[in-house]
Amino acid sequence: MAEGFSQSSGEAPEYKLVPLRGFSLISGIHSPEVVDQIQNFEIQDSDVFVITYPKSGTIWLQQILSLIEVKGDVTATINQLNSERVPWIELLDSRKQFVSAPSPRICVSHLPYKFMPVGLKQKKGKVIYVARNPKDVLVSYYHFHKYANMLETPKDFDTFFEKGKEGNVFGNCWFEHVKSWFSHKDEMNFLYITYEDMIKDLRSVVERITSFLARNLTSQQLNDVIEHSTFKNMKNNPQANYQQIPVILLNHQLGSFLRKGTVGDWKNYFTVAQNERFDRVYQQKMKDLCHHRNKLKYIKIEQLF
Ligand code: A3P
Repeated sequence: MAEGFSQSSGEAPEYKLVPLRGFSLISGIHSPEVVDQIQNFEIQDSDVFVITYPKSGTIWLQQILSLIEVKGDVTATINQLNSERVPWIELLDSRKQFVSAPSPRICVSHLPYKFMPVGLKQKKGKVIYVARNPKDVLVSYYHFHKYANMLETPKDFDTFFEKGKEGNVFGNCWFEHVKSWFSHKDEMNFLYITYEDMIKDLRSVVERITSFLARNLTSQQLNDVIEHSTFKNMKNNPQANYQQIPVILLNHQLGSFLRKGTVGDWKNYFTVAQNERFDRVYQQKMKDLCHHRNKLKYIKIEQLF
């Protein structure tokens, strides 16, 4: 997370959720003024925005895109953290970084559609939206809250379940996030991928990404991108595992970005009753997507992910 993520000393700021136009930011990491400027960023055709709800595979995409740009040569990425190479656009110092970055400028964001640069909505630049089963997102986010010092420590999973389901977290409501982006996809150069597809067949997702970005990689270079993007290799890679993020932000004794990396971990946490309640909310919130012609239509959650 750019400056907010790489500062190494100093007093911990007071982190709390602060509202901006119906969305919650984290004070000390984000500023409403900075986020409100993003819509004015001038967009170039080569710009790439990766959009995720938190815990949907953001750091995985940072690694994959970093490697695609160097054609799989992991040694070319060792002098820079992925969060500097592919920064979060909403962080405090993002404007300076974005404007001065060499082309292609690649960034990630958890923001909803309404905050995005106007140019993106005029088919300049490219958007990759990564979705993950919201039940697994909730479990992953629960663990993240336990070790992220900038987020409120949850009392227990049941308490966090209620909070996460209602969207009382940074990122707000998962349903609104995915819907806000998906319902505007035709205005953008837009690629939709899922975490679950990446787990099932990483190669084919990487191929979809390279083709969307018009990058030519040989079969060996693709193999290298995939090899260095596995959970195990990322966990051992200091540029990708974010163990260097200062403790005022993340307490590394209590957790890790690369926690488990699996599909369906929610089954180890949700009670039967919680699962039924979550399915009901999902059906109610997602039903308006059934009118879209594209893939993200209203189907049972397990079929979607
Ligand atoms: P879990 O907590 O379920 O393990 P984000 O980067 O958006 O914060 O998402 C973090 C989630 O993506 C974590 O999920 C993390 O393990 C998973 N992830 C990151 N890199 C991965 C990889 N190479 N393979 C599988 N999962 C990965």
